[in-house]
Amino acid sequence: MKFNTLKDVDVEGKRVLVRVDFNVPMDKKGKILDDRRIKAVIPTINYLTKKKAVVILMSHLGRPKKINDKLRMDPIAKRLSKLLKTNVIKLDDCLGATVEDQINEMQTGEVCLLENLRFYPEETKNDKLFAQGLAELANVYVNDAFATLHRAHASVVGVPHFLPSCVGLLVMKEVKQLEKARKARKPFFAIICGAKEDKLRVAEKMFTKASNLFIGGVLGNILLKARGFKIGKSKIEKIKLQKKFVNSTKVIAPEDVVVANRIAQGAKTKIVAVSDIPTGWMIVDIGPKTLKRIKEIVGHSRTVFWSGPPGLFEIPKFSKGTKALAKMLAGANAVTIAGGGDTAEAIDQFKLDRGFTHVSTGGGASVAYVEGAELPGMKAMIESKKRFG
Ligand code: 3PG
Ligand code: MG
Repeated sequence: MKFNTLKDVDVEGKRVLVRVDFNVPMDKKGKILDDRRIKAVIPTINYLTKKKAVVILMSHLGRPKKINDKLRMDPIAKRLSKLLKTNVIKLDDCLGATVEDQINEMQTGEVCLLENLRFYPEETKNDKLFAQGLAELANVYVNDAFATLHRAHASVVGVPHFLPSCVGLLVMKEVKQLEKARKARKPFFAIICGAKEDKLRVAEKMFTKASNLFIGGVLGNILLKARGFKIGKSKIEKIKLQKKFVNSTKVIAPEDVVVANRIAQGAKTKIVAVSDIPTGWMIVDIGPKTLKRIKEIVGHSRTVFWSGPPGLFEIPKFSKGTKALAKMLAGANAVTIAGGGDTAEAIDQFKLDRGFTHVSTGGGASVAYVEGAELPGMKAMIESKKRFG
């Protein structure tokens, strides 16, 4: 293989720095809403502790640009301690002399979690000195953050420049499963929703690969607007779409939507055609006609890939479309792959997990992987192997 797996590197008794993705959905009080991403890396952690490594975990959480007490990793360390049935040492920074001292005091087989990497803007800028500082904490680097492999950030692509590296067990599992969608049997139906505009960039590329492509959520709002619909006060991001994407008949936007006068369980709602969205109202979910259209396409597809909830399902009143979609796919007679933190949360919430061929921990990363892109994190693993063997 072009990159190393855990078995290829000597971790016995070593200090091992593991990039994980603990960017879990949380409520306003910091309660973890879905711990799938935490559970998913337990096999790698157990492998390393059995080998008597000193395990140093690092992750980002949210998108802070500086220290933000609401986005500290403490609740995650607590949940991980519970899941591992052993104390995970939480450090209050992610590099520097104090962190180094604390790591030096650790026994082999112990696990610590560094503070949120994005408290330093150097992380997303892939700053070389920052990456070097992280690398100085350890002898070996493991990347098991599948959901972050599409980000060229310091902890993903910078650190393996300085340390011998390998991917973890979750990355191996994800790649194996997502290959089923990457080499999808046709007809291939991709359903891409959500709120991050960079995902739409990747979806734009997906439309050459997919037989049909449904775009919903904030991404759907962007597409509707580009197609000339008035979308009221619906959430939107400024992004210019390719003409051929906007005009393609393969690219399907919602036909009808649930609109609300505000974002709250107590809001007034109604179902309207996308040509009739009242000014001052906003799209919060897809409507029944849209669901029917999706169902028809799912019915004749052999592979379906779904990433991102089509509505604000965290609010029960706006969750019908997401629930119906999850249920439809769980019961579909096709290879069904779902991806993303929020999507996984929705599937878990509705207890539909077993109906899917695979539920990926990656959102944007899974879309990019399925589309066929070379993920920066994977590329860094290949380069690191060339450098260190
Ligand atoms: C995700 O949730 O998709 C990953 O954790 C990456 O987070 P980001 O979109 O903030 O880079
Ligand atoms: Mg996410």
